[in-house]
Amino acid sequence: MKLSHLLVLSTALVFTGAIAQQAVAPANPETVPVVAVDTGPVKPGDPKAGQAKAGACAACHGVDGNAAIALYPKLAGQHEQYIWRQLKMYKSGERNNAIMLGLAAVLTEQDMRDIGAYFSQQKVIAGLADETVIAQGPNAGKKFYEVGEKIYRSGNATNDVPACMACHGPAGAGMPGPTYPALGGQHADYTSLRLNEFRAGTVWGKDKNANVIMSQAAKGLSDEDIQGLATYLQGLHKAGKPTAK
Ligand code: HEC
Ligand code: HEC
Repeated sequence: MKLSHLLVLSTALVFTGAIAQQAVAPANPETVPVVAVDTGPVKPGDPKAGQAKAGACAACHGVDGNAAIALYPKLAGQHEQYIWRQLKMYKSGERNNAIMLGLAAVLTEQDMRDIGAYFSQQKVIAGLADETVIAQGPNAGKKFYEVGEKIYRSGNATNDVPACMACHGPAGAGMPGPTYPALGGQHADYTSLRLNEFRAGTVWGKDKNANVIMSQAAKGLSDEDIQGLATYLQGLHKAGKPTAK
């Protein structure tokens, strides 16, 4: 399945607004905006070949993609082409990280697809949402994850925050393809880092490959919202099926 350059970026922005209004629409490839991201000509990855190549990633991301350290993202269950896209952006500098630049620099696009195919077949082991209660402010007495769950499912119209679920799915599984990552089970610290950066305006990709959706979606989040979303997502997974694919 190929999401090619179907729509220009301005269209994607208009759609983001539309999604904010129809808050609780379930993730559905038909209703979610198509972003003009690079989809590349490379052939699908080979998970077997990817397993061997993923040895270089195990120290930080875990042998099966379930990273043990909270600052390293879990890659288990992440979509093959999403992994490919990110690796390509690390290599080109369009996503800025010194560690991953060095690691991606030696990979070909086919390596990226193969590694992506391997990790996409692993099962993400979700963590737990923590039970911390909010001490002050209008949400005092609620748990952080409850605040996160509400935004995830329905957004926050007052601050122009769209329902995350519309693109990332009710169980946080995202969608196959290069664009919509799985978030369910991810380390809260990692998610929180990303949301802080998106809120500050970080965009991954340059020119036609730029994806402004998250810098828009995160603009209206408070610190409390980010903490709530991050802990909610850490525990989010499909009932009876811990994998987010
Ligand atoms: C020394 C530790 C380390 C190693 C080894 C490592 N990574 Fe990473 N990886 C990181 C860090 C740190 C990040 C987050 C970087 C950022 O802030 O963007 C990351 C992020 C990623 C992401 C983005 C994930 C997302 O959810 O957006 C992908 C994909 C990835 N790494 C793949 C790999 C692959 C494939 C390898 C092996 C070839 C590898 N990494 C090896 C530390 C490492
Ligand atoms: C309109 C679709 C859309 C909505 C709504 C949306 N996202 Fe995203 N999200 C994306 C896309 C697309 C990316 C990948 C960006 C890229 O690759 O450049 C992304 C990436 C992310 C990432 C980085 C994942 C990783 O592995 O590094 C996080 C975290 C995230 N979104 C959280 C959220 C949260 C929380 C919300 C709700 C407040 C939300 N998103 C709403 C489309 C969306």
